[in-house]
Amino acid sequence: MLKMENVTYEYADKTVALNNVSIDLSKGKKIGIIGSNGAGKSTLFMNFLGILRPLRGKVLYKGNDLKYDKKSLIELRKNVGIVFQDPDKQLFFSNVYDDIAFALRNLKYSKEEIKHRVAKAMEKTNTEDLKNKPVHFLSYGQKKNVSIAGVSTLDQSILLFDEPTAGLDYASRENVKKILNGFVEDDGKSIVVSSHDMNFIYEICDYIYVLNKGSVIGEGEGSQIFLDKKILEEASLEEPFLIKAHKYLKKPLFKSEQELFCDITSC
Ligand SMILES: Nc1ncnc2c1ncn2[C@@H]1O[C@H](COP(=O)(O)OP(=O)(O)OP(=O)(O)O)[C@@H](O)[C@H]1O
Ligand SMILES: [Mg+2]
Repeated sequence: MLKMENVTYEYADKTVALNNVSIDLSKGKKIGIIGSNGAGKSTLFMNFLGILRPLRGKVLYKGNDLKYDKKSLIELRKNVGIVFQDPDKQLFFSNVYDDIAFALRNLKYSKEEIKHRVAKAMEKTNTEDLKNKPVHFLSYGQKKNVSIAGVSTLDQSILLFDEPTAGLDYASRENVKKILNGFVEDDGKSIVVSSHDMNFIYEICDYIYVLNKGSVIGEGEGSQIFLDKKILEEASLEEPFLIKAHKYLKKPLFKSEQELFCDITSC
């Protein structure tokens, strides 16, 4: 439904942040975009959303060239949502409840439906206790969770998450993993997740694109990419822990830590 072909994006100061990038988001239900700091991940997402416009190449939505007039972008964003890397870009309302409800109110959902959806989103993201708190008093991790709650109230079929675990503690990170899996397995959505947290991407994603200095230097099924040490080294990324256990400790290629520990302890 959404892809880009040969996209080059240049910022005003002539930094080429994307260089001839082709990415097809229908290649998987859980796509990982991996790359080190400055690789172009956030720029890529903003090109997919039509917030930024390619210098060359194109974004295709439902098979047609993306148009950048207001009506076409509203149509795109009915189906494609984003959780920005920086939660301050996402949250702007006075308190947590109003912020999560903001898009629903804009789309004129009934009061009852809004109440129901916001309650469900807060429960999912463990943000119920923050309901009446002003957004600007929240910690960074709390803001990230509230951002995820906001996007989870809508019926968009593709969700982009830019570094969803950055700044989160262990419990929140595990919860984000559960929420993202739930979007795909329970709600039938597709997710696209950018990160340099290799363990997180390894456990979650089924298809990977590797970005390095604005170019795609590899793509493929998760295990295929993560077993390719050369590509990871070129992109300055580490091997996931479970890949190391497989390669150097000769363990089977497990998808989760839990499976590895069960193998060791015969649980
Ligand atoms: N507004 C801007 N003006 C000029 N250059 C920019 C701008 N925003 C980003 N860049 C540059 O574009 C390149 C890609 O940046 P981008 O933020 O997309 O990388 P990223 O992969 O998201 O990095 P990170 O992991 O640190 O979030 C970097 O070299 C960055 O310095
Ligand atoms: Mg970024």
